[in-house]
Amino acid sequence: MNENTLRASLAHLPIPELRFFESAGSTNDLALKWIETGAPDGGLVVANAQTAGRGRMNRSWVTLPDSALAFSLVLRPAEEYAEKLPFYAPLAGLAVSLALENLGLAPEIKWPNDVLLNRRKVCGILVEAVWNGSQPAGLVIGIGVNVAPSSVPPDGEVMYPAGCVEQALGKPADRTELLASILTHLFDQRPAVGSPSFIQAWDSRLAFRGELVRVEPPGQPAQTGILQGIDQEGCLVLRRDENNVLKISAGDVARLRPLV
Ligand code: BTN
Repeated sequence: MNENTLRASLAHLPIPELRFFESAGSTNDLALKWIETGAPDGGLVVANAQTAGRGRMNRSWVTLPDSALAFSLVLRPAEEYAEKLPFYAPLAGLAVSLALENLGLAPEIKWPNDVLLNRRKVCGILVEAVWNGSQPAGLVIGIGVNVAPSSVPPDGEVMYPAGCVEQALGKPADRTELLASILTHLFDQRPAVGSPSFIQAWDSRLAFRGELVRVEPPGQPAQTGILQGIDQEGCLVLRRDENNVLKISAGDVARLRPLV
């Protein structure tokens, strides 16, 4: 990834400062530290490779050089956005999905925010907040996208089977263009985060609808049921039997997988 080309591709976006690294530990760690020293809203950290990338639930996330996207966007939400915090990871999932749709692909969102192509995970999202008392001082939206086949970890090394954009596309993809497209969609959708139209856009891309799935909310027993969709609060709705519907909040970091 060429830094100058990247800067030119992002010039139309509200990104006041870009920090680019050929190799970084974790772009999320760098962005979190940057918030403490005054990172602006829209500050962006991009790395061509990560040596200590982090995933959800304390897992590691591997980013090999020249093969993937790894970046972290700083958002400094105003106080009124506090109750919308659970929607920022889905906002990123929606932005990645819209960018992949622009390439002619048919992504699906594995609730709450993993992006799948052909039922394989191609994108993971890790949103972290810095708090100032009870108010969020800033958010880091970390996005990792497997682009080239060399970015795909073997099935035995991941919790959920992984794939990549180029496998689905059948040809090489331009990482810089994809990054610019994801961020363009993210800034476009940002004003609508949490709104009915936003939830509808998220719900319409939901993977495994009508299928039997298993959800493991943290610290609670695993739940199985037929996946119905996402309700107006952003909860995942599972039907367990005729009279029993279960709702799981998007704020709970739950693990979801199909059972068949
Ligand atoms: C997941 O577990 O699915 C989330 C993976 C998030 C990975 C991205 S890569 C860019 C950013 N930096 C990190 O250390 N993690 C996120």
